Amino acid sequence: MPDKAVLVTGACGEIGQALVQSLAQKGGYRIVTTDLMPLPDSLKAYSAEHVQGDLVYRVKQFYDYNFDIMFHLAASLSSKAEVATEEAHRINVEGTMQLLMLAAYKSEKRGKAVKFIFPSSIAAYGFDSLEQKRKAGRVKEEEYNHPHTMYGANKLYCEKLGEYYGNFYGQRHLDPNPPVMLDFRAIRFPGLISAYTLPTGGTSDYGPEMLHAAAQGLSYSCFVREDTKIPFMAMPDAIKALLMLTEVPRDYLTRQVYNITAFSLTAGEFRKRADNAFPGTRITFEPNPRRQGIVDSWPEDMDDSAARNDWGWEPDYDLDRFFDEYFLPEIRKRYAFRPSLRTKE
Ligand code: SER
Repeated sequence: MPDKAVLVTGACGEIGQALVQSLAQKGGYRIVTTDLMPLPDSLKAYSAEHVQGDLVYRVKQFYDYNFDIMFHLAASLSSKAEVATEEAHRINVEGTMQLLMLAAYKSEKRGKAVKFIFPSSIAAYGFDSLEQKRKAGRVKEEEYNHPHTMYGANKLYCEKLGEYYGNFYGQRHLDPNPPVMLDFRAIRFPGLISAYTLPTGGTSDYGPEMLHAAAQGLSYSCFVREDTKIPFMAMPDAIKALLMLTEVPRDYLTRQVYNITAFSLTAGEFRKRADNAFPGTRITFEPNPRRQGIVDSWPEDMDDSAARNDWGWEPDYDLDRFFDEYFLPEIRKRYAFRPSLRTKE
């Protein structure tokens, strides 16, 4: 069988780097990457071609390709999007729209559905008060879809755009012989934590930032309160979910947008874990009202039973396994060369 042609946008971002490596390790894919940034050396062997530049202007060039799968990861994250709203809209919405149009056109023309895999987010939810958030607990996909952020509004709208291009584009589904439409599938991710990379511009970033700082023996001032609670997930589980959702036959899916999650904890519990693993860490809490407001509008937990039922989703890493079997061993290796590092076994 010939290799599947895959496009990965935002390939230099956190999810992008991990995904490109996993796809290459699995084999059977010809991977084209694109990003504003040049490809890091660590990915050069895996990408057949890297297209550097602004996606909104680059999509035209991809009309010459026949991709089987598009992983559209390029985005401006939630904190950054609040300070550059217009730019965020352009990247998050216009970029997605351009790519959806390409996928829709190619699906129809080739008579074969392009799989369009889209990472959405807990930011698609929005609570009016902490009281409402606490009362809501685990939220289902269709509940509390009232995002407070530009990023969340962009993600929620792009979910709808994906569903539109996949099902109703131009009302072609009503034709006597409807054309093949693109196959849109989205995952609402919780905050993600990698042992190798750090996010930029997000609001769940306090989790990974605190842990990476502690592992290096650096002090960290956390921008949210100790009692702030949202769900998180290890990066390998996020990649596993993307690949599972890509591979599951369409007939198994009862929806196009799925929650997934792994574990929820407070920022104070993050500090405890960091203290235990790296004694002497200096973590303080100095909440930033705007960033605090963003995470207060996000759920404490997500109901991922649809993903579990439809495609057998289950995370490999719960909270203990995340620390003991993924994050701590990997991060100790990563920062092992630093003389300031003190670890407790
Ligand atoms: N991690 C993202 C952010 O903080 C949410 O999906 O913006």
